Amino acid sequence: MKDTCKDNLISSNNHSHLTLDDSVPSDDQMFETYEAGHLVALVLELDRPNPLFRSPIGKDPKHILDLGTGKGVWAIDVADMFPDATVRGVDLFPPPVSWMPPNCILEVDDALQEWTWREPFDLIHMRIMIGSFSEPEWDRVYKQCYDKLQPGGWIEQVEASPVILCDDGSLPPDSILHTWGVYTMECAKKAGRELDAIDTMCDSIRKAGFVDVHEKEYKWPIGPWPRDKRLKEAGVVNFQHWMSGMEGWCMWLLTKFGSPQPWTKEEVLVYVAKLRTELKTPRYHIYQRARRVWARKPFVDELEPEIKREPSP
Ligand SMILES: C[S@@+](CC[C@H](N)C(=O)[O-])C[C@H]1O[C@@H](n2cnc3c(N)ncnc32)[C@H](O)[C@@H]1O
Repeated sequence: MKDTCKDNLISSNNHSHLTLDDSVPSDDQMFETYEAGHLVALVLELDRPNPLFRSPIGKDPKHILDLGTGKGVWAIDVADMFPDATVRGVDLFPPPVSWMPPNCILEVDDALQEWTWREPFDLIHMRIMIGSFSEPEWDRVYKQCYDKLQPGGWIEQVEASPVILCDDGSLPPDSILHTWGVYTMECAKKAGRELDAIDTMCDSIRKAGFVDVHEKEYKWPIGPWPRDKRLKEAGVVNFQHWMSGMEGWCMWLLTKFGSPQPWTKEEVLVYVAKLRTELKTPRYHIYQRARRVWARKPFVDELEPEIKREPSP
């Protein structure tokens, strides 16, 4: 790791009225989960020169933003890759980092508040933000991304589905892993924070005005079952992702929006223990879908005349 600097660990934000989101805990176990998710996404792109993102931003970007940065690992890796760029990671919670490259700034702030960064970004990245926003909030986030990117700048988002799938019938229909995804999606719908970003982000990004929209679909294996070496490696890491993440992913949802009535904490813990036991069954060839979308803000001469004239509110 290169030169590091602690002064840019957490820069202060301008929003004194931050509303802390208690839907997912911010503890060591969750940060471990985010790191595992980062590695799964990375392992499946390791055959590419740049496994961190696909947006063609060139070799000399100046400003990059990672929204909902979690542990900040993506922002730190990207700052290492582009030492002349400033890479900001923003999250509601401070990440547990003690070092970072001097060109990386991790900030505590709410992406739903008005963005006060002055410099136009070359790339805005989001990953596994599933369940963080309601539909109108997503639209607001994409609009802010559009407004704060420079013309020709890129947005990139990676999302995974909570639904566990199996192509060869090895997961019994009566297993709880089989129903967990659909059940948590129902609870999240009641909470007003649907878990379908993987299937809605592409249209939402287009609707926000982005062009040149690309997408890449993945199967993220869970467990070491695939024969292919790369997929096996991803499956091993994703197994850890699920083992450490499940409790945090569902505790808030089930204790607030579980059916037929909200569950007790103890009921959720028993449920998670059963899920973990099933996850450890090596004969289940299970995976989740994931998708990467990357798209460009149009250059000024690509815009329709009436859009060109329209000032940003
Ligand atoms: C599942 S984690 C993903 C972390 C990271 N993107 C990654 O892939 O490792 C989602 C993150 O989004 C953050 N988040 C949720 N709502 C947010 C908001 N309104 N503003 C900023 N961050 C938010 C959460 O605190 C959490 O750290």
